[in-house]
Amino acid sequence: MKTASKKEKGVNTVSPKKTEKSLEGTVENVAKSKMKSYNLLRGFRDILPEDQTYWDQVRDRARQLAEYYSFGSIEVPVLEEADLFTRGIGKNTDIVEKEMYVFEDPGGNKVGIRPEFTAGMVRAYISHGMLNRPQPVKLFAMGPLLRHDRPQAGRYRQFYQCDFESIGSEEPIVDAQLMVIANAFFKDLGINVVMKVNSIGSPESRREYLVELTSYFRQFRKQFTDDDKRRLQKNPLRLLDSKEEYMPELLDSAPQMIDWLDEKSKEHFMKVLEYLEEIQVPYRLDPYLVRGLDYYNRTVFEIVAEEEEGEKRHQIALGGGGRFDGLVELLGGREGTPACGFALGLDRVVSLLKERQIELAPRFKGAVFFAQLGEAARRIGLKLFEEFRAEKIPVVEAFGKGSLKAQLELASKQEVAYTLILGQKEVLDGTVIVRDMDAGTQETVPVEKVVAMVRRLLGRGDV
Ligand code: HAM
Repeated sequence: MKTASKKEKGVNTVSPKKTEKSLEGTVENVAKSKMKSYNLLRGFRDILPEDQTYWDQVRDRARQLAEYYSFGSIEVPVLEEADLFTRGIGKNTDIVEKEMYVFEDPGGNKVGIRPEFTAGMVRAYISHGMLNRPQPVKLFAMGPLLRHDRPQAGRYRQFYQCDFESIGSEEPIVDAQLMVIANAFFKDLGINVVMKVNSIGSPESRREYLVELTSYFRQFRKQFTDDDKRRLQKNPLRLLDSKEEYMPELLDSAPQMIDWLDEKSKEHFMKVLEYLEEIQVPYRLDPYLVRGLDYYNRTVFEIVAEEEEGEKRHQIALGGGGRFDGLVELLGGREGTPACGFALGLDRVVSLLKERQIELAPRFKGAVFFAQLGEAARRIGLKLFEEFRAEKIPVVEAFGKGSLKAQLELASKQEVAYTLILGQKEVLDGTVIVRDMDAGTQETVPVEKVVAMVRRLLGRGDV
């Protein structure tokens, strides 16, 4: 006879003693968990229901723009091979050196949590052979990213971006149209922005410029912090981005990339600016704008709120982007595949909307409020609520509230057109009071007719 293996026995037999013991453990754990409370990790936060109206609208507008300008929506993983980001963004950038969450997964692979979308989207373009599709391939992504940034106003360790990438065209009109889209996003939300723009040329012309820049900064090396000394040695372009106090003065006489541009980059840049002027996107030339990622060439830009423009050199921008003609090839794709894109920081957009008290229409606006008094009324209400939902009539309720006064106050705050009132008398009579909130008049109707009546009152016709 076949006997059950130890493992099978283990699955089917539970010793009562063991159960008692593990239960004891559970009770102990519950008691313990009541004692310990947990704090958020530094730089992380919850986004509460009261803020979701802003978030929903901001995300909706980003999605609408993506659709309108034919960007296909893509989801890329939160986790990728760490090397994808290191190679894509650049070894000597702050993001890779200090801010990336890198660890070994249980399978022993070195992985990184995405600190941005571009590298992952380009990886997807290559993995799925998108170069065989009509070019440019336009992609849109939105979601959370992680950077171990120093937390401060407008800087979080988990933050959200929407990202637009156009891969496969080198035309300057692509750069300009991306800035038009970014500008339209803010205009729709009632925020005036300015594009700070610059061109950082081709890698070749940049090499010559870097020789000049390095020799200029070398004279001041002694006063540099260790970080800036390292930048001078490893990636002098990053010095233009240095946040040290002595830098603005030194920048005043530093050589500017614009004077070192190769002919083609110059021509490209002039075209971009002409398009921007033609379509009246407000921009300002910023000769020291280099951005914090290494993959850019030619056009780079950052989006700042008009009122904040020029206030501080290092205020966190609302978004940024530029051309990255070398990235597809760098990540193993076809040589010479041009690309351009930008990302917007949604956390900053939402806080600006809140700061400026820019009112956005709530997405779900109840047409009717249901107020009840007593248990029997609540039961009828539960059923009525479902009938309204089936008719797609948005009803707001407060079943959790007992007092009629509190419910009516809530109803007037919600600015609904009608309030249904179901008290004890109405339950006995099988009726509901329908109150017209604007006129202040009310009418009593049989409960089975109330849905049809409200439907008619809201101008949605008879059932
Ligand atoms: P980025 O400049 O690193 O560019 O980020 C774009 C935007 O994300 C910033 O302007 C800012 O609004 C927001 N952001 C960045 N870090 C944080 C943070 N710690 N907390 C809150 N918001 C933040 C990129 O990520 C590029 N991938 C953009 C791009 C797309 N370039 C070409 N295509």
